[in-house]
Amino acid sequence: MLFMCHQMAMKKEAQEKEEKAEQLRRAQAAAGIPIIWILGGPGCGKGTQCAKIVEKYGFTHLSSGDLLRDEVASGSDKGRQLQEIMTSGALVPNAEVLSLLNAAIGRAQGSSNGFLIDGYPREKNQGIAFEDQIAPADLVIYFECAEDTMVKRIMARAAAAAVKRADDNEATIRSRLNTFKQNTSAILELYSDKTLTINAERDVDIIFMEVITAIDCLMAKKGRSAKAC
Ligand code: AP5
Repeated sequence: MLFMCHQMAMKKEAQEKEEKAEQLRRAQAAAGIPIIWILGGPGCGKGTQCAKIVEKYGFTHLSSGDLLRDEVASGSDKGRQLQEIMTSGALVPNAEVLSLLNAAIGRAQGSSNGFLIDGYPREKNQGIAFEDQIAPADLVIYFECAEDTMVKRIMARAAAAAVKRADDNEATIRSRLNTFKQNTSAILELYSDKTLTINAERDVDIIFMEVITAIDCLMAKKGRSAKAC
């Protein structure tokens, strides 16, 4: 009897969770709020371009790396485990990342006019889980950059930083690059119909001009601007 009650409660909880996710998906679609995934290897310039997008469009910027670092900074046990994984250059389990993203999206919902999801998905199944549990992405921007350039940029950032990131050292950068190389082609293949690849070897502002063209076009398609594309 007790077992049956427990099972019924679990089923109810799962149903409620599913209904809530569905409501969120519908609200998002109805509001026409753009969701953009920002992808690229470590140091390709994701954060730099996101800052410029926020300045121009006022979107909500959610960086999976920043959300994880906030959890680490909280000093929790979970944070310590996350730090270990991040310092090894591997991927944190998706349940952790998606739950942080989901909560942050929930907090911004209602006041946001667009979401920039920076550094997510890092592998194919992360993308599938996001679209299943949160909402479909409208556009994927992939910043393509040579390995040597990315390493140089991160090393320069580390040299200039007052507080250096724990994963900004040569050994971890190599490991982050390996993780990135192992997973990225499968993501690009799966989302090829909505991915824009941008050459990120160029000057920040030149890159941004291409970003603007893509976002303006998306906003027009979603009926959020009068401009055609
Ligand atoms: P995360 O924090 O996302 O780090 P990352 O992907 O390695 O990227 P960075 O933040 O280092 O670089 P960026 O591309 O934002 O470049 P930036 O603009 O700063 O992830 C860290 C870790 O968290 C992961 O390794 C993993 O363990 C975990 N994690 C994160 N997301 C996860 C997920 N989804 N699933 C599981 N685990 C996850 O630029 C770098 C430097 O270059 C700057 O100094 C900048 O000024 C300069 N620069 C930028 N653009 C240019 C340009 N065009 N020309 C010259 N210099 C430039």
